Amino acid sequence: MKHYGLIGHPLGHSFSKDYFTEKFRREGLDCEYENYDLPSLRIPKLCGFNVTIPYKESIIPYLDELDPVAAEVGAVNTVKVLDDGRMIGYNTDVIGLNAIIPRALPWADGKMPLRGALVLGTGGASKAVQYILRKNNIPYKTVSRSKEKGDLTYQDLTPEVIQSHLLIINATPVGMTPIINEAPNIPYEVITSQHTLFDLIYNPEETIFLKHGREHGATTINGLAMLHAQAEASWRIWRRAEGTLFQ
Ligand SMILES: NC(=O)c1ccc[n+]([C@@H]2O[C@H](COP(=O)([O-])OP(=O)(O)OC[C@H]3O[C@@H](n4cnc5c(N)ncnc54)[C@H](OP(=O)(O)O)[C@@H]3O)[C@@H](O)[C@H]2O)c1
Repeated sequence: MKHYGLIGHPLGHSFSKDYFTEKFRREGLDCEYENYDLPSLRIPKLCGFNVTIPYKESIIPYLDELDPVAAEVGAVNTVKVLDDGRMIGYNTDVIGLNAIIPRALPWADGKMPLRGALVLGTGGASKAVQYILRKNNIPYKTVSRSKEKGDLTYQDLTPEVIQSHLLIINATPVGMTPIINEAPNIPYEVITSQHTLFDLIYNPEETIFLKHGREHGATTINGLAMLHAQAEASWRIWRRAEGTLFQ
């Protein structure tokens, strides 16, 4: 049997174990996927593993090689372990995001003028979002709690800023299970039906961020399709020979 898994802390919100367990059962694969809830980072003995909060950046010094895309993003969510024990880091969040973001654009049908995106948060997932926005030539600004880390702080989000950024992406854990009654601090009252709100969170299915967006007529998208796309991309990496995945 081949052993795979997820490292991170906490892991209560994660659907990855259920996703892979069901996939292995459905496809008759002699494989197992376990959660490794690790209060401090250590590397379990596995054929491959996913990495989540808070280790997507701190795993990098432990790796023998980095895929060029993961190096450019600066975060790793998938590690392939070779037969000789060497570990190669990849970022499949970008693949999951590339399956969603180009189609999520409010102006993708050509009827809307090109306007920028706002990316809430500056962590590992935010870096993958920014990579895909750059690849798709979408102007964006990052929003952080700290002046030093982002282009804007939450206090800078005036009605004008919200009106000139029609795609708003929540790349923070705010609103995720178990603390589901919170939402990023943005002026929801000026959201309109021209906006698209994309939350990387998939548990709960509808966060307060998405609920506020829906109540103001916005198009809303949760992180479930992204989760599935990045999980399948991880599986392709674990199953194939070495090489870069995403050009
Ligand atoms: N659907 C998927 O497949 C998928 C894939 C990856 C991640 N995700 C989700 O995306 C979210 C972020 O993941 P991550 O790995 O980037 O996490 P992370 O590295 O911990 O970073 C999240 C960022 O959010 C901001 N933040 C953290 N706590 C906050 C708070 N209390 N209030 C406001 N902002 C806060 C911080 O930015 P500042 O310090 O700059 O404010 C932080 O850098 C998680 O919910 C994760 O589950 C989903």
